[in-house]
Amino acid sequence: MNYKTRTKIKKILIEESVPVESIVTILGTVRTARAGKEVAFLEINDGSSMQNIQAVITSPEKFPVLEKILTGASIRVQGKLVPSQGKGQKFEIAVENLELVGSADASYPLQKKRHSFEFLREIAHLRPRTNTFGAISRFRSKLSFGIHKYFGERGFYYVHTPIISASDCEGAGQLFNVTTFDLNNVPKKNGAPNFEEDFFADHTYLTVSGQLEGELLAMALGDVYTFGPTFRAENSNTSRHASEFWMIEPEMAWAELEDNMDLAEDFLKNIFKYSLEECKDEMDFFGQWVDKTTRERLEGVINSKFERISYTEAIKILETSNEKFEFPVKWGLDMQSEHERYLTEKKFGRPVIVYDYPKEIKAFYMRTNDDGKTVRAMDVLVPGVGEIIGGSQREERLEPLVNRMKEMKIPTENMQWYLDIRRYGTIPHSGFGLGFERAIMYITGMTNIRDVIPFPRTPRWAKF
Ligand code: 4AD
Ligand code: MG
Repeated sequence: MNYKTRTKIKKILIEESVPVESIVTILGTVRTARAGKEVAFLEINDGSSMQNIQAVITSPEKFPVLEKILTGASIRVQGKLVPSQGKGQKFEIAVENLELVGSADASYPLQKKRHSFEFLREIAHLRPRTNTFGAISRFRSKLSFGIHKYFGERGFYYVHTPIISASDCEGAGQLFNVTTFDLNNVPKKNGAPNFEEDFFADHTYLTVSGQLEGELLAMALGDVYTFGPTFRAENSNTSRHASEFWMIEPEMAWAELEDNMDLAEDFLKNIFKYSLEECKDEMDFFGQWVDKTTRERLEGVINSKFERISYTEAIKILETSNEKFEFPVKWGLDMQSEHERYLTEKKFGRPVIVYDYPKEIKAFYMRTNDDGKTVRAMDVLVPGVGEIIGGSQREERLEPLVNRMKEMKIPTENMQWYLDIRRYGTIPHSGFGLGFERAIMYITGMTNIRDVIPFPRTPRWAKF
């Protein structure tokens, strides 16, 4: 069969680039079928956009196959493109030929009605066919492109960092092991697994971040960024944590923390703008069905300055807030979601960048401030989501870095490559990581990370 002759529905209904009266062939899936004696209607979607095209059959008796065409079936329709008689669409198809390609019976789970997001997660193999997940999937694709465009236009090189890693970048120990050991017969040495005998002759993991290798590449290329999957075996079942998520990590040579904050703010505003301008259909859909405030919320953020406060100032604000927090506030506290959300939602009502955190609660690679107590870290907090970006100016001085690693009991033997870039022509540098799914949540107003990635991985859940 020839599937090359087809017109995508997007061309007809969104681009409006198909002449009226022309004969078109549509390949797609039936969203609804309504058959009467005089006339039958099929709503067809082909994934090219949110829009369904209506196929109208004026002599149903000539198409006995209609009986077998139910919601969910895939069909081929050929007919004339005509201005629509009915409301809701500009054009429709006056059907001349109709073929059932793949039938679907009444057990098809996506019958026309609203389904809960919880139910749809159980059928993640079918949910891309719903309006919401179709929109999310298209939006992920378009926004990815927008992100590459942003960095490409500013001279950042897209670099590819490894997914299998022998180091724990964040030092949080939330690692998935990578091994080819027979788990029933693990070679041991002094009672512990002997990774000398494993595939890589080393203890390896799925990476939690591409940063460390990103830093190496920035030393050679100047400005770089990664955009890849990262993995965290963090056993927290929240609406904002996934065990596998995508991260965008720019790394700039010759840049300090202020430059980093400037980039983070400009980058976020730019991708919000890109979403509004280049993903209009999806954003209209989210505005109508998910969060009525999306457009004005993003416009507000694009046109305002992010608040920038030090961690110490943030703690003072929280201490004097008269708010009841589950985790008591005092200097040194690793801020929880409740604190972050108070700052960004209640206190400022817009994105907030908190910087200069206590060194005890941050990773080893951040540059120590002269006070000896804080490091040049920054987190960007946004309403509804909390932390969306984490970043820092890196410790580019060899001695303070080695001392900090010793303090934190991070073995330096396996990290000589990382220290070497401080040994040979060290350069002040900074970078950050944006969680792609958190960005999508913030932009669309979706409230659960499981609903913005097609096949989420979370504790006790790796189906599909
Ligand atoms: O703050 P994080 O842990 O920072 C890093 O990994 C640094 N190496 C980044 C860098 O400086 N290059 O993670 C960065 C961002 C967070 O702000 C959050 O948006 C997202 O990644 N993130 C998660 N998103 C979904 N599920 C999780 N479990 C996440 N953990 C972090
Ligand atoms: Mg963080």
